[in-house]
Amino acid sequence: MKKAAGKNKAGAEKPGKRPFLSDIKTLRARARRHMDQGAVTEGYSADRDTVVRILNEALATEIVCVLRYRRHHFMAAGIHAQAVAAEFLEHANEEQAHADQIAGRITQLGGEPNFSPEGLSSRSHSEYVEGTTLVDMIQEDLVAERVAIESYSEIIRYLGNDDPTTRRLMESILAMEEEHADDLKTLLETLAT
Ligand SMILES: [Fe+2]
Ligand SMILES: [Fe+2]
Repeated sequence: MKKAAGKNKAGAEKPGKRPFLSDIKTLRARARRHMDQGAVTEGYSADRDTVVRILNEALATEIVCVLRYRRHHFMAAGIHAQAVAAEFLEHANEEQAHADQIAGRITQLGGEPNFSPEGLSSRSHSEYVEGTTLVDMIQEDLVAERVAIESYSEIIRYLGNDDPTTRRLMESILAMEEEHADDLKTLLETLAT
């Protein structure tokens, strides 16, 4: 017993040209198939495994940034650099929020967020550098932000129109990494005077 639903009306499509929208019957039938995949529909055109892998690398990057900023926060507080310590804490909390957003998107895509400490620093794009002096710490954080800016820009270009939701998420995170880099540059300039 074959149902007519889900079939395209004859003559609706010209060869080599995609219609702007699928007809309603097709859309509804497609949405009912593979419901276990939640937000991922047949119209999802990105390579899901690659997107999940890339997002897990971004997640590792954010976690490493949280750890580095938190260490820097306590170290700066120890040497009575309260304004810098406060800035580090603010960044640490924002990186934590990024990690949570990325982990949430990974599960939406049917993947598993990798929070394992095993291999964390090799999955991460940025490095965990402790730094000794205040200037050292700020410089290392600036390097890490610049690494994140480069790699997230690449992720955004890779995603293009294939996964606009993940792309928009990464665009909003990228904007904040750029703010972080700018904050650190200002801190370095202030300390130099
Ligand atoms: Fe971040
Ligand atoms: Fe950042």
